[in-house]
Amino acid sequence: MTETTTSSGGPPSLPMQGVPQPRRDEVLHLPRVHISSHPVMRHKLTALRDKNTQPPEFYRLVKEIGALLAYEATASLALERCSIETPMGPMVGERLAGGIGVTPVLRAGLGLAEGFREVIPDVQVWHLGLRRDEQTLRAMEYYNRLPHKVDLQVCYAVDPMLATGGSAIDAINVLKRRGIPRLCYVGIIAAPYGLLKLSQTHPDIDIYIAALDESLNDVGYILPGLGDAGDRQFGTY
Ligand code: PRP
Ligand code: URA
Repeated sequence: MTETTTSSGGPPSLPMQGVPQPRRDEVLHLPRVHISSHPVMRHKLTALRDKNTQPPEFYRLVKEIGALLAYEATASLALERCSIETPMGPMVGERLAGGIGVTPVLRAGLGLAEGFREVIPDVQVWHLGLRRDEQTLRAMEYYNRLPHKVDLQVCYAVDPMLATGGSAIDAINVLKRRGIPRLCYVGIIAAPYGLLKLSQTHPDIDIYIAALDESLNDVGYILPGLGDAGDRQFGTY
């Protein structure tokens, strides 16, 4: 993570310098925002944030945290009754009603999506490539493999880092155009600035995160955060 230079070779640009940011306590109780308080989550988060954690371990932790977040974020899914036979006789059981989608925002969302697949193996995976321009901090779409046929009860947009909120807002915009009845955002670490923006722009979605951090630095990285989630998963420093 370094200061960026302008395309004209001009002075370094600091896109968040001087931008007012809400305090953590100001966004702690936003409606439909769920912040995990599970001790196992906190334990894994500490290992994830540690700068000495190397990519193989980092990726494994992202997957494990993805599985824990999946468990929390799916707690209110709809069920339907179904008849089965146990070895002892007939009974009426329950199964998830309707399909479940997970949209990893590439690249960094891939590990989280794998965690979701460990909890619900038959999720549909809708890949969406968004890349943040580090000078403007605007998200740009570069890949989209979303099916046209929608048969989901819910779709989870998953991306570890909610910084300025631009990528998350755009991902939800893309999914809303598909007409999915219910959308959620799932992330690992949020900055107050991005969390407020996402919640204000899309007040109709649920937001699940593992931690709410303090602020963004001048170049839009989360503090204390964990650095670059994509680079740390895939070893591309
Ligand atoms: C990171 C991260 C989010 C985005 C968050 O991705 O995974 O997608 O930045 O920033 P924002 O809230 O300010 O939009 P990045 O664009 O670096 O791409 P990568 O996953 O390929 O590393
Ligand atoms: N993207 C990251 O990977 N980390 C941050 O802190 C902000 C955006």
